[in-house]
Amino acid sequence: MLEVRDIHSYYGKSHILHGVSLDLKEGEMVCLIGRNGVGKSTTLKSIMGIVKPQQGSIRFHDQELVGLAPYEIARLGVGYVPEDRRIFRSLTVHENLLMGIKGGKKGSAGEGGWTVERVYELFPRLQERCNNKGSHLSGGEQQMLTVVRTLMGNPRLILVDEPTEGLAPLIVKDVLDMLATVRKSGVTVLMVEQNFKAAIKIADRFYIMSKGQIVFSGNQAELLAAEDVRKNYLEV
Ligand SMILES: Nc1ncnc2c1ncn2[C@@H]1O[C@H](COP(=O)(O)OP(=O)(O)OP(=O)(O)O)[C@@H](O)[C@H]1O
Ligand SMILES: [Mg+2]
Repeated sequence: MLEVRDIHSYYGKSHILHGVSLDLKEGEMVCLIGRNGVGKSTTLKSIMGIVKPQQGSIRFHDQELVGLAPYEIARLGVGYVPEDRRIFRSLTVHENLLMGIKGGKKGSAGEGGWTVERVYELFPRLQERCNNKGSHLSGGEQQMLTVVRTLMGNPRLILVDEPTEGLAPLIVKDVLDMLATVRKSGVTVLMVEQNFKAAIKIADRFYIMSKGQIVFSGNQAELLAAEDVRKNYLEV
């Protein structure tokens, strides 16, 4: 469903992505890992059109994304959950979810069928907190809210940047379990995750990045077997 081919992205004159290629099939959960500053977030931003690749191609269901604006890419069915949790802190959980519904659809289930009711059914914890203000949620709850608010736009693919960053170990599991549930519901997931020991339990495939390039691609078993790769590119 997503084919990233040889993209090169820059911030000003700094050349950050040096020919990144990756693929996602419908329904997969794929994890992009790598040390700090290697270009993981820039890869997600390039897919979303926030950073414009100077070279290469990104095809989503046979539609070229390079050159489109972020809102056009979102409209095609790509959801993006950035590193910083962008919830509305002064609004309740319920109001936050309503804000996620795309303009015009007014609460009706779109193609992906996401409604506030369905969210509450799948994630009862958010229902328990439905009248709490965003600012009164724990870090893990805020992260879950950010993800489900993105789902309200009925994306076919979501890009999630470091969902467990800064969360306590117990909550890390809750957030990853939540993403596994999202995937089971039929949404394809591409996530960036530093905590590969947690991610390895739920993702189907992995890409490792180093210095703006993909240096490894494989499934769980392949990643576990590739001790050298893990030593060189992941462990500190
Ligand atoms: N807006 C920006 N302007 C200039 N340089 C940037 C900008 N954002 C990121 N960079 C640089 O681009 C490189 C890649 O950054 P990126 O955020 O993609 O890395 P990352 O793999 O997501 O790292 P982290 O694990 O720390 O989130 C880094 O050297 C970073 O300093
Ligand atoms: Mg990052």
